[in-house]
Amino acid sequence: TPARVTAHPAFAVGPVRRETFGTFVEHLGRCVYTGIYEPGHPTADDDGWRGDVLGLTRELGVSTVRYPGGNFVSGYRWEDGIGPKDERPVRLDLAWHSTETNQVGLDDFVQWCGRAGVEPMMAVNLGTRGVQEALDVLEYCNHPGGTALSDLRRRNGAEEPHGISFWCLGNEMDGPWQIGHKTPTEYGRLAAETARAMRMAGGDALRLVACGSSGPTMDTFGEWERAVLMEAYEFVDYISAHQYVENRGSLEDHLAAGHLMDRFIREIVAHVDHVRSVLRSAREVHISFDEWNVWHMSSRRTPVPSGSDWPEAPELTEDLYTVADAVVVGDLLITLLRHTDRVHAASLAQLVNVIAPIMTAPGGPAWKQTIFHPFALTSAHARGEVLQLAVDSPSYTSPQHGLVPALSAVATHDADSGSVTLFAVNRASDTALPLEADVSAFEGKRLVEALVFASDDPLWCATQEDSSSVLPGPLEGAVLEDGRLTAVLPPVSWAMLRLG
Ligand code: AHR
Repeated sequence: TPARVTAHPAFAVGPVRRETFGTFVEHLGRCVYTGIYEPGHPTADDDGWRGDVLGLTRELGVSTVRYPGGNFVSGYRWEDGIGPKDERPVRLDLAWHSTETNQVGLDDFVQWCGRAGVEPMMAVNLGTRGVQEALDVLEYCNHPGGTALSDLRRRNGAEEPHGISFWCLGNEMDGPWQIGHKTPTEYGRLAAETARAMRMAGGDALRLVACGSSGPTMDTFGEWERAVLMEAYEFVDYISAHQYVENRGSLEDHLAAGHLMDRFIREIVAHVDHVRSVLRSAREVHISFDEWNVWHMSSRRTPVPSGSDWPEAPELTEDLYTVADAVVVGDLLITLLRHTDRVHAASLAQLVNVIAPIMTAPGGPAWKQTIFHPFALTSAHARGEVLQLAVDSPSYTSPQHGLVPALSAVATHDADSGSVTLFAVNRASDTALPLEADVSAFEGKRLVEALVFASDDPLWCATQEDSSSVLPGPLEGAVLEDGRLTAVLPPVSWAMLRLG
């Protein structure tokens, strides 16, 4: 049975937001050191930034980059990472049981963002710290000058304020693993007071993110959102969502990830709207899905160092990704786009080496993982408005999740250029999926490009030695005739069809 789709320009969900294409750089493993930063590397510039990684970051089409954590931020003193590098303290990083040299810090990261053409999304420490330190780092970053902290920034070489508007109020404070973990009411109060005070300095130009749940399987999911937002609703712009998925042995279950994320988003929306209704608030709080990816936590987790071992930038969570993982990542991105009315920001976690689309060898090359491709192509071609599609798809059976629609799809329409782009995933692991799309509402279009990412071996992994045997290639047989777009999506595939 074919999957049938109808697209019409009148059914717009909301704009394609550049903020959906964010990523994440944490002081974790080799994300920073030998990731984005490696003085002496053949491609490094005078400040130690790897040129090959800068190039791939631009090619990936990244908008915002969240920093400096993650779990790391909950024990972090931002002052450690500013000023002359040889005077910066070396510290224990308790989150990842590592040694932090602080050779990269706030001003450095903002400089890197400028070179990468991305916007920083800064997180403040609400684990071991509180309102005052959040105000301090905000003043250091954003006040033009004439105060102790803003003049300190200027003395450190940044004459102009950094103008950072995106701020995360802590990280995963619902998680018992978090340094300074809190109950929802404790955290809600702290988030509200931190946000209220930050607004006194930065006003409505600030975009503030309260911590939501670390995932849909947290016991406190739902109640956490409710209790936090009952305290903080009027002061924040976003509630965060995090979700990692993995292949636990059944490809059918793994390929249902987009279906599960869809449900998670709907549930978060229900909790947010419940609080809004109880508070009779005129304010809208959106979702910042600021950690999402495939993460093979149970099967391939590198143990975090322990005991007397406190290494610098150890190899941690350097997952290698399969073609199936890339299809899942493409599907998750489709899902985020489909909810563009409520998901106003998102960050693929992370950018380099740590569960990442970009990998590096110290002193050696940088290379692309499989998940790089659907992200880069979606970022490059999703433009204008996201369209709500009418979809009639056959289902497949996932042992764990039951009936799952085989097709996941979204389209974007750019009224200015006239381009229409359909992103589609066939989640079925053993059957090709014929696709019939009624695009007759868009007159006079032709099929500009049809690409597919798939392999006869969905478990094929890119490696440093071979990162290019499986690349996106032409989707043979795709045709647009009389307003009817037809194609056959191979099993476990991600595809992009562009009309112009
Ligand atoms: O992205 C890796 C880790 O996952 C982050 O530090 C944390 O926020 C999450 O649990």
